[in-house]
Amino acid sequence: MPRAFSISAAAIAAERQRVGDDLERFEIARVVALDQLQLREVGPRDVHLRILAVSAEHNVDHAALADTVNIAELRGGKIFPGNSAVGEVLAVGSEVTRFAPGDVVLTHCNGEPDIYGYPLRIWAYDQPDSIGWYGEEAVVADWQVIPAPLDCGLNLWEIAALPLRAPTAYHLWRRAIGIFRLKVSRGQRARLNVLGFGGGVSELFLMLAIHEGHRAFFCSGSPERRKHLEQLGIEPIDQREFNRFAGRDNVKAFSKHLKGLTGGEGVHIACDMLRGPVYAAGLAALARMGVNVSAGWQLDAGCNYNSANLSVRQITLDHVHFETVEGSNAATELYGRVFRPTVHREIYAFESLPRALEEMHKNVQTGIPIVRVAEDLPAEVAKLAP
Ligand SMILES: NC(=O)c1ccc[n+]([C@@H]2O[C@H](COP(=O)([O-])OP(=O)(O)OC[C@H]3O[C@@H](n4cnc5c(N)ncnc54)[C@H](OP(=O)(O)O)[C@@H]3O)[C@@H](O)[C@H]2O)c1
Repeated sequence: MPRAFSISAAAIAAERQRVGDDLERFEIARVVALDQLQLREVGPRDVHLRILAVSAEHNVDHAALADTVNIAELRGGKIFPGNSAVGEVLAVGSEVTRFAPGDVVLTHCNGEPDIYGYPLRIWAYDQPDSIGWYGEEAVVADWQVIPAPLDCGLNLWEIAALPLRAPTAYHLWRRAIGIFRLKVSRGQRARLNVLGFGGGVSELFLMLAIHEGHRAFFCSGSPERRKHLEQLGIEPIDQREFNRFAGRDNVKAFSKHLKGLTGGEGVHIACDMLRGPVYAAGLAALARMGVNVSAGWQLDAGCNYNSANLSVRQITLDHVHFETVEGSNAATELYGRVFRPTVHREIYAFESLPRALEEMHKNVQTGIPIVRVAEDLPAEVAKLAP
């Protein structure tokens, strides 16, 4: 049986008891455990994968902490997490035509499309019976994988950073620009000021913005990530200079700083992703007609606003979940051409996956954390693995 990581409700309860429910002391690595997995039979529309590399994602952090919902408990006591992977096709069902053994593919995490193609649920999170990809092998339906663009100019670790974050950024961007353009036409204003706060999704969002000719600002506490983005033409702002927006004065100073950088106007589009203190700062820095988008709630799931204030400024707040299957395929076309992610300096071994998650939780990584699952890589992939 292939090995795979799991999160059990029992392990969460034990860790919560150990730390007296103090999430500051909670150790994720004590909850994410190496387990074994019985794969389902390969059905006619299924693809059997050998997982090559995965990226660590924050929903696993939420699943392990059980800070938003206790998803392991809701799913019957245990989940097998992991919703971003690069894999090699080992076998395909009799009705699969898009893939063949030996192909290298990416996953997307749309677990069950609604009538418009957007996910009702996320694979390996709240989709019932879904088994994630933090394991050596997996069986998935063919609509859940996308051909990997191995010739896009990125290395394997950079490609592995993107399957979940790139479609999210792609969707956030097309929503944000679409909403802004409903209010202000291209004829009125061509070049927009776009702001993103620290994190992989925001980085990719800003890459889309500069690719289309806009001005972009990356406000992060990480010097490594700011440096990487600066090399791509994105202007860095050190979030720590504003004390991570702990007080109202910090938010005011940040807003003033951005107005100063933009000739008094502010930013037309802000990508938040974290909420909490970052939300107030993003809102304050918006120009008239501004749009604030987010698909994350890492620091807080709630957000308040003054309707009168936002109405007078004609501000739109948008809440995004994840792309359609079609949009996830489209986002993949931009790997290497637009998306050039920051990757954490250590590529973790499979057995170190819990540590990768722990370090992500502690925010001590220099970029997106990648875990190498397979030691032996297919030849065309091995040459992309520095
Ligand atoms: N809906 C979706 O499809 C989707 C997809 C991906 C992610 N998400 C969610 O979006 C959020 C961000 O994910 P990501 O993958 O972009 O992040 P990421 O690459 O893992 O980075 C997380 C970022 O959080 C920032 N951070 C951590 N603690 C902070 C604090 N106390 N104050 C301010 N910033 C802090 C860090 O920014 P600094 O550089 O400033 O330290 C770090 O770069 C997560 O909640 C995740 O679950 C949602």
